[in-house]
Amino acid sequence: MKHQTVIVLDFGGQYNQLIARRVRECGVYCEVKPYTVPLEELKGLEPIGFIFTGGPNSVYQEDAPHVDPAVFELGVPVLGICYGCQLMAQALGGQVTAAQDDTAREYGKTATFFDTSCKLFKNLPEQGVSWMSHGDYMEKVPDGFVLAAHSEACPNVAIADEKRGFYGVQYHPEVNHTENGVAMIRNFLYEVCGAAGDWTMGDYKRTAVEAIREKVGGGKVLLALSGGVDSSVCAALLAEAVGRQLTCVFVDHGLMRKNEGDEVQAAFQPWAMNFVRVDAEARFLQKLSGVTDPERKRKIIGEEFIRVFEEEAKKIGAVDFLAQGTIYPDVIESGAGDAAVIKSHHNVGGLPDYVDFKEIIEPLRLLFKDEVRQLGRELGLPEYLVARQPFPGPGLAIRVIGELTKEKLDTLRDADAIYRQEIAAAGLDREVGQYFAVLTNTRSVGVMGDGRSYDYTLALRAVTTTDFMTADWARLPYEALDRISTRIVNEVPGINRIVYDVTSKPPATIEWE
Ligand code: XMP
Repeated sequence: MKHQTVIVLDFGGQYNQLIARRVRECGVYCEVKPYTVPLEELKGLEPIGFIFTGGPNSVYQEDAPHVDPAVFELGVPVLGICYGCQLMAQALGGQVTAAQDDTAREYGKTATFFDTSCKLFKNLPEQGVSWMSHGDYMEKVPDGFVLAAHSEACPNVAIADEKRGFYGVQYHPEVNHTENGVAMIRNFLYEVCGAAGDWTMGDYKRTAVEAIREKVGGGKVLLALSGGVDSSVCAALLAEAVGRQLTCVFVDHGLMRKNEGDEVQAAFQPWAMNFVRVDAEARFLQKLSGVTDPERKRKIIGEEFIRVFEEEAKKIGAVDFLAQGTIYPDVIESGAGDAAVIKSHHNVGGLPDYVDFKEIIEPLRLLFKDEVRQLGRELGLPEYLVARQPFPGPGLAIRVIGELTKEKLDTLRDADAIYRQEIAAAGLDREVGQYFAVLTNTRSVGVMGDGRSYDYTLALRAVTTTDFMTADWARLPYEALDRISTRIVNEVPGINRIVYDVTSKPPATIEWE
């Protein structure tokens, strides 16, 4: 069945995939296309609507990106966002200039007033905050357009030609900072384009499976499975698509949480694919013996991981495709360029040099985290895998402060398991973004029964966050903390003191190392 399609025409803005994601969220299929794609090709997709994205240019520059003006003759509605709005305004006879004074140049959250008789703002409040980022100004609005929203500084924050179904907004409805932004996109799709909402994650799965089959043909695929959400969903999707042509290598470095290795193995038992679990605990611990520096730990684990994976890959022989569970936020972050390295995050990104393969496939590359989880559910993965909180590649090695021993790791595993059980039992696991225990290398005096103890201090960490770039410490209820503390000191030998970490990121980081 062919789905109704919306084309997001990309003019180089930062949020273009986010726009696509919002359209999918509204139950409508969409494709992001560069603005250079010929109109004939776009017409072939029979779109029910176009969304023109933002972009870094000014429409009045000579080499600024443009569209074929015939796009406005197709009888297909257009929503222009920021640059896309200015581009449409200019193409249809309006005039755009650099904002002369600071008042017309708007950045950040801006109080905005909407004309709710306009379809774009139907059933929404008349006032709200919109997120602006523009230095240009629409001096003259094209004929046929009315002003549909304004701010204090700017009379034409939104323009509309309802007859032709053309709408332009100077702000970014796709970002969370814009109140009701998604509802505005929904209004465009449903009220203006007449969308039926005929697209679901189930459709995404089917389309992705078909695309993988077409690409892979009869070839062999290799995937490093970590047990995290992304690589697990990637594995399940590939297994669904190509079955036994897929081999997943799960390197068990012995730095996982309690029972995690067995859980991952059990979760993939039902799938028709080749699953290789490598028990590499001893060799990782040996390499890490005596190492206390966090960055050295990361480096050693990253390198050893590659070595183990490489050995397994050699046993399998040449493969056609190396699959990776890269998701869209990874794509953005790795593009971030010169940001200072705070922690050298270990991912499997370094593998390609070491393994004999022809091509990389990244079937989750355009999805956001919650979409990946949704896809995992669609594929039938168990909830404990799909809903799993992030877990660093170097695992518990960076949660045992200082030197690692198997004994310390086991102590931490037991304490962390209790912490996680209690958080879940208190129903707090959905509210808290990430939570885990850290075994510090500080020992202190305690009294247990009638005797003196001199044992380790365990730190509990829990943060709320949306993007893991910044985070606030979670206000866990005292009763929950009390229960967790009591259980851990009673049930886990070697720990006699529990502290709760009350620092945010920044200045701290989420992990301790
Ligand atoms: P930090 O500690 O930098 O953590 O505030 C931010 C997020 O990244 C995770 N993290 C890692 N993930 N390899 C990973 O794959 C790493 O070396 C690593 N270090 C931190 C951390 O758990 C949090 O979710």
